[in-house]
Amino acid sequence: MVSVSMAVDLGGIKMRNPLNTASGTYGNGWQFEGFYDVGATLGAITCKGVAAEPWDGNPAPRLAELRGSAIMNSVGLQNPGIPAFVDLYGSYLQGLRDRGCQVICQVAGHSIDEYVRAIELYEELAPFASGFEINISCPNIAAGGAAMGATPAAAAEVMAAVRPRTSRPLVVKMAPHDVAEIGRALESEGADALSLINTIPGMAIDVRTRKSRLSRPTAGVSGPAIHAIAVRMVWECAKAVKIPLCGIGGVASGEDAAEMILAGATAVSVGTANMCEPTCVPRILAELEQWAQEQGVNDINELIGAFEC
Ligand SMILES: Cc1cc2nc3c(=O)[nH]c(=O)nc-3n(C[C@H](O)[C@H](O)[C@H](O)COP(=O)(O)O)c2cc1C
Repeated sequence: MVSVSMAVDLGGIKMRNPLNTASGTYGNGWQFEGFYDVGATLGAITCKGVAAEPWDGNPAPRLAELRGSAIMNSVGLQNPGIPAFVDLYGSYLQGLRDRGCQVICQVAGHSIDEYVRAIELYEELAPFASGFEINISCPNIAAGGAAMGATPAAAAEVMAAVRPRTSRPLVVKMAPHDVAEIGRALESEGADALSLINTIPGMAIDVRTRKSRLSRPTAGVSGPAIHAIAVRMVWECAKAVKIPLCGIGGVASGEDAAEMILAGATAVSVGTANMCEPTCVPRILAELEQWAQEQGVNDINELIGAFEC
């Protein structure tokens, strides 16, 4: 059987295949080396969100499993700060680049100034980064904790501030609301690509104690339960913008990844599935390649947005 070309271009990040990892669900890659050769397998890895300064994150418990179909997390973006992140993982991440796996470093911030400072630090300290992913779901301290990119205007403001600080590709990670309008605003301020979706806010109550099962009343839902919502949002966003998308949400099989591609995603990130089945990435990749072959195309790019409605 003729093999299908799997290479894709996520806004200037040239990936050998469409598979990426969702920030925060894959450590920074090395945790999976005992399961398979990370650098030889993935198209890209997206690292955990890191800010200029260390963040403590939320108190435990931070994770709860929901009847096998989803998990909830309230990690609160715990991270060591960019200088320590680079000291700890920089040489490993450079090794991934050398083996053909792109490295996307995620940027967290509580204010425009913090995003700018984070990009400046990455620019100075992280030559291994192929590009950056701006997480606009971080809480904005000045706005009482609302997401930094909660409205098209707010998202555009973040993008306008960070865009001039780097010439490397900028992907923006969107929260699951208003993705067409916010996507358009980000595109017009120079985003190279968009990734969606982040977790969906939910609640899980322990009915015996009447308290939240996590340390906070609400937390982010992820996993198979959100997949259909994520596919719909990718489709809506793809119709609104011209820049490429990375589809995220409940991807656990080649078929799930194929749905994202048909809905309009150029790349696809695997998230929670890594935590349930640490060997899932090579399996999903093989299933995706087989699907593309069965579709009779020479190049996976022919299938992007090929959904027929
Ligand atoms: C434990 C955990 C930590 C996460 N940390 C981040 C993060 O640091 N930055 C971010 O943008 N998204 C973070 N996410 C959201 C994922 O990247 C992803 O958008 C979401 O989980 C949906 O994909 P999934 O259903 O495949 O997990 C986290 C998710 C989980 C479960």
